[in-house]
Amino acid sequence: MSRMTVNGRPVRFALDPDTPLLWALRDAANLTGTKYGCGTGDCGACMVMVDGEALRSCLITIAEAEGRFVTTIEGISRDRSHPVQQALVAEQAIQCGFCTPGIVMSAATLLRSNPAPSDEEIKAAIPNLCRCGVYPRLVRAVQRAGRVMRRLETISAAPAPGISAEDAARAVPAMNPAKESETD
Ligand code: FES
Ligand code: FES
Repeated sequence: MSRMTVNGRPVRFALDPDTPLLWALRDAANLTGTKYGCGTGDCGACMVMVDGEALRSCLITIAEAEGRFVTTIEGISRDRSHPVQQALVAEQAIQCGFCTPGIVMSAATLLRSNPAPSDEEIKAAIPNLCRCGVYPRLVRAVQRAGRVMRRLETISAAPAPGISAEDAARAVPAMNPAKESETD
């Protein structure tokens, strides 16, 4: 049994302790926003935040995540309103979108500690691979998100089309701390 906090909610995983966190999140907790790309730590599609640090969830076991605070893309905002999400949309830095959740987690982690990163700092902090090649737009989007977080700019565009804020709130119970749940 591995216990941790996922998106603000206490969770117990009744799984082999060597199970990669990626599979526990996707298959047991149904948090499928975290993507499987390579499984070997190269692509960053599986990036999540663990105790405020961006980590590849395919490389960390649930035993290693025991007692830690995990945030997934589902926990970063209820309605896709995080500045990084809004800036990625505004800068059209998304094509197929497969890499996007991992990029959001890397960028959000960077901006927590450095809200005004240089181009080089962005490239160093966001190692995620994008087979669609959004890199130039990605750098612009992260800088724009930083300006939003520093209250130098607002983005009036709505978040990407999809579920409403109300539906998102219902669909993501992890955002509404409740009693401990067990998943297996
Ligand atoms: Fe984890 Fe690629 S799936 S780094
Ligand atoms: Fe397609 Fe990055 S937008 S892989």
